[in-house]
Parts: sequence; structure tokens; C-alpha cells
Amino acid sequence: MPELIAVTGATGEVGGRVARRLADRGVPQRLLVRDASRAPQLPAAEVRQFPGYHAGEEMRAALEGVHTLFLVPAAEAPDRVEQHYTAVDAAAAAGVRRIVYLGFVRASVTSTFTLARHHYLTEERIRATGVPFTFVRMNLYMDFLPAMVVDGVIRGPAGDGRVGAILRDDVADSVVAVLTGEGHDGQTYEVTGPEAFTLGEAAELMGARFVNETVEEAYASRNVFGAPDWEVEGWVTSYTSIASGELDLVTDTVEQLTGHPPVSLAEYLSRR
Ligand SMILES: NC(=O)c1ccc[n+]([C@@H]2O[C@H](COP(=O)([O-])OP(=O)(O)OC[C@H]3O[C@@H](n4cnc5c(N)ncnc54)[C@H](OP(=O)(O)O)[C@@H]3O)[C@@H](O)[C@H]2O)c1
Repeated sequence: MPELIAVTGATGEVGGRVARRLADRGVPQRLLVRDASRAPQLPAAEVRQFPGYHAGEEMRAALEGVHTLFLVPAAEAPDRVEQHYTAVDAAAAAGVRRIVYLGFVRASVTSTFTLARHHYLTEERIRATGVPFTFVRMNLYMDFLPAMVVDGVIRGPAGDGRVGAILRDDVADSVVAVLTGEGHDGQTYEVTGPEAFTLGEAAELMGARFVNETVEEAYASRNVFGAPDWEVEGWVTSYTSIASGELDLVTDTVEQLTGHPPVSLAEYLSRR
């Protein structure tokens, strides 16, 4: 029997793409989803419903017999790190042999982007289990950029900082290469697009314009939505992390892993 891969996040964008690609290759997988009625119907894919990463015992049971876990980070939440810790501990308790975690580029305890700190802490927890791991660290999603344009304008305190944004298709291809290949244990792969651009350049390519807010203006313009402070801080620091240069990373890792270069912003926009 080929080794069983558990895929989380299969009702979402990256996990869904990974599950589809594994199915296309005939790889046996188990989809761990919060709502089985929304799970993709794929050949050679079992579906297990569980309440979510916070539910350690249910997650451990859902992972029985699994060799490799692909762990997609949870939706942003105040207890996201604790949820990840519970999920990681459940995987270790279930005896999985490998954890492939979708992290974030240059994640550290001092990342300007507050939500990136969650990825660093999760990676540390995975290391501490002693289970072999691979971290696939994504840059900002390229396919998220059009949604940043509101009324023809991208507004945020990103300055002239650059971002090596990556298409979710390329993230998924990289993850699948890791899940189905060998020799990836202990590796941290930072996956990015082929170039780093400013939000001004991105806006121009999208026929929009970029307005460089001050940090104060950014908080003021977002506080009106009534979101909790941690969430507004996450939104604003996603821009200041670009300004800081922390997201300007460009690597050839996608090509190394998949054999094809990552899609550029111009190419992505021309396909839409
Ligand atoms: N790099 C970037 O620019 C960027 C941007 C946004 C988000 N992200 C992060 O990257 C992750 C994957 O991106 P995506 O585009 O695939 O997101 P997505 O389409 O929102 O999918 C997220 C998936 O994770 C599942 N999930 C969320 N919270 C969970 C929890 N607590 N327990 C179990 N499953 C949970 C969701 O299940 P349900 O369908 O049941 O909700 C869904 O299947 C996101 O969850 C987020 O952490 C990265």
C-alpha cells in the first residue's frame, strides 16, 4: 500500500489544489475537513470530518494510519497558535511519520507581519515533536493582489518595499512535489514568485494606483470596520512588512521543486 497522506484545508484554495493534484497522480489521501458536505469529491480520497485544529482528540483519531500530514494554517483567530499547537501534538500522538507545514517567508518571532509570528511558533512546535518535517514557506499570494484594489486604488503603508508574491497554483505545485518526493526531511523551502515588485508597480499593471498611507492613516481607515485589534494589526502589518523589506524574497525554489518556473504577475494578469 502506498503511504497515506492526510490533507487539511481541502475545502480551501491551497489545500483544495493540493488534494486535486494528488488525486490526479493517483496518490491515496485522507481529507480532514470541518464540513464533509463541502469536501471535494476525488478518486482515492477518503473524507474525515473533524471539528477543527482545536479538537486534539478528534484530530488524533482522524490521523490514525496516516504517514504524512499536510498542515494548512488555520484561519486567523486570537487562539490560532494554540490551535496549531493542539493540531501538531495530535499529529505526533497519532504517530504520523512526517509533517509538511505551510508557513510564511522569513517567519520569525520578530516578523513585522504579526500573523507571520504564528508560523514561526508553529514551526518551533513541530521541531520540538521530533517528527520529521518540511516547511514550505509561502510569500504573499499573488492572486490576492486584485482584491487589494478598492475603487481603483491600493491603499496601505507599504512604501517602496517589494514583495515576491506567489500564485497559489505554484504554492500547491511546490507542496505536491514535497509530499510525493523524497529527501525533503528537515528542509525549509521559501517559495516565491519570479520577481519582487512594489505595490505601486503592481497597481499600475492592474490599471490601478497605489496610495502610500501612513501607519496612523492605515489604522484609522481600517478601524472603522469594527474588527478586533489583533486583526486590524494583521491587516496593517501585512503592508508594513512589505515596507520593511521582509517580503522582498525571491528564490528559485519553485522551479527547483517542480521543474517549472513560477508564474509572474504580468503573466497571471494576462490569463485572468
Ligand atoms: N500568503 C498569503 O498571502 C495568505 C493570505 C491569506 C491567508 N493565508 C493563510 O494561508 C492559509 C491557506 O490559504 P488558502 O488560500 O488555502 O485559505 P482558504 O481558502 O481560506 O482555506 C483555508 C482552509 O483551512 C481550513 N481551516 C481554517 N481554519 C481551520 C481550523 N481552525 N481547523 C481546521 N481547518 C481550518 C478551512 O476550512 P473551512 O472550509 O471549514 O473553513 C479551509 O479548508 C489560510 O488559512 C491562511 O492561514 C495566507
